[in-house]
Amino acid sequence: MSHEPPIYLDYASTYPRREEVMAARRQFEESSYANVGRANYDLAEAALVAYQDSKKTVAAWIGCEPVEVLYTYSATYAINLLALTMEHNGVIQKGDTILLSLSEHHANIVPWQMLAERVGAVVKFVWLDEHYCIDLDDLKNKLDNTVKVVSLQYASNVTGAIHPLEKVRDIIGSERLFIVDASQMGLHWPLSMSDIHCDAMVLSWHKMMADTGIGVLALWKVLQKAWQSPVSGGWAINFVHTDGYEQAGIPERWEPGTPHITGAVTLWAAVGYLQKISPEQKKDYAHLIELIDARFESYIARGLQVFHSRKTGSIGVWSFALSGKHPSDIADVFADQGICLRSGHHCCEPLHEHLWVAWTVRMSIGYDTTQAEIERFFAVLESLL
Ligand SMILES: Cc1ncc(COP(=O)(O)O)c(C=O)c1O
Repeated sequence: MSHEPPIYLDYASTYPRREEVMAARRQFEESSYANVGRANYDLAEAALVAYQDSKKTVAAWIGCEPVEVLYTYSATYAINLLALTMEHNGVIQKGDTILLSLSEHHANIVPWQMLAERVGAVVKFVWLDEHYCIDLDDLKNKLDNTVKVVSLQYASNVTGAIHPLEKVRDIIGSERLFIVDASQMGLHWPLSMSDIHCDAMVLSWHKMMADTGIGVLALWKVLQKAWQSPVSGGWAINFVHTDGYEQAGIPERWEPGTPHITGAVTLWAAVGYLQKISPEQKKDYAHLIELIDARFESYIARGLQVFHSRKTGSIGVWSFALSGKHPSDIADVFADQGICLRSGHHCCEPLHEHLWVAWTVRMSIGYDTTQAEIERFFAVLESLL
């Protein structure tokens, strides 16, 4: 059945493109498209300026310096790159512990498990509290001298929970490395690496209206200077001889090959779009979350299981399950009505095990979601109960 236009409620997966972002991309491609860091003609200079301006904009958005912004091809790859970098520089060794929370996306689990396997380290998981936030008492219990890295998401892509990261930093102290996966938080500024005092932050920009195929690893300058990069080639290298090579300076040594230049332009444009979202729009978004929470709650007595953090400030992501109905069949019913939802474990299998459900259906909203769309969603849900 075709529905025009469909009701898109899968913002946690990827944010639909906005005309401003597509227009900036088109304009760049028509007027300044060239490779960066390889030539001095005007077009190449213009492309380099656009690439660097993008980093300035991103740096201002997340509270760091432009040189601290590294572009990768996804948030997932950013965490892999960080884990490889730590291994390459002997930061994690046999017997060390990497602490994560049970709420993490696989992107913030598997790279650490693979690293641990390779060097003989251990990955441990901290429990969640009743709001699906990291349990600070359990964190304290698990914090022994072997813990070298704590890597946590900022907001959950299943429950919308926001973790108390500043408190986490206080608890873990300044000696341990603290990594933040802010993939679901880019839309919900202010985001400040310096306020959180994390050592690295990872973002997924297609969830913020920009191109797919570009992610951010923000890493303090002092760490970039202290560490060698495990990857190379292109402008990541200063010189190469038959008997050796020299890695480029920072941040290029972490960006081998030609970067996603047009993607970088869309980051800059996406931030521009987000900056125009008014305090009223943000208030409307928060209000819509409250309304949706109340509606979901009213169905719990009728057998609906809802997984959403009721803590103030949680983001607009709800996962739910209905006993006797397979989540993918539920999502199909919604799809037949033109409503786009995701079903599955949402790349969070340990969290689903913790919640005692194999799969859930997920509904997530953006700044453009309307009350009428939500009414349509609940009308279909009601028909399933
Ligand atoms: C919390 C979280 N971390 C990481 C990712 C992975 O992002 P990317 O698609 O940029 O690799 C996602 C995507 O759903 C996510 O929600």
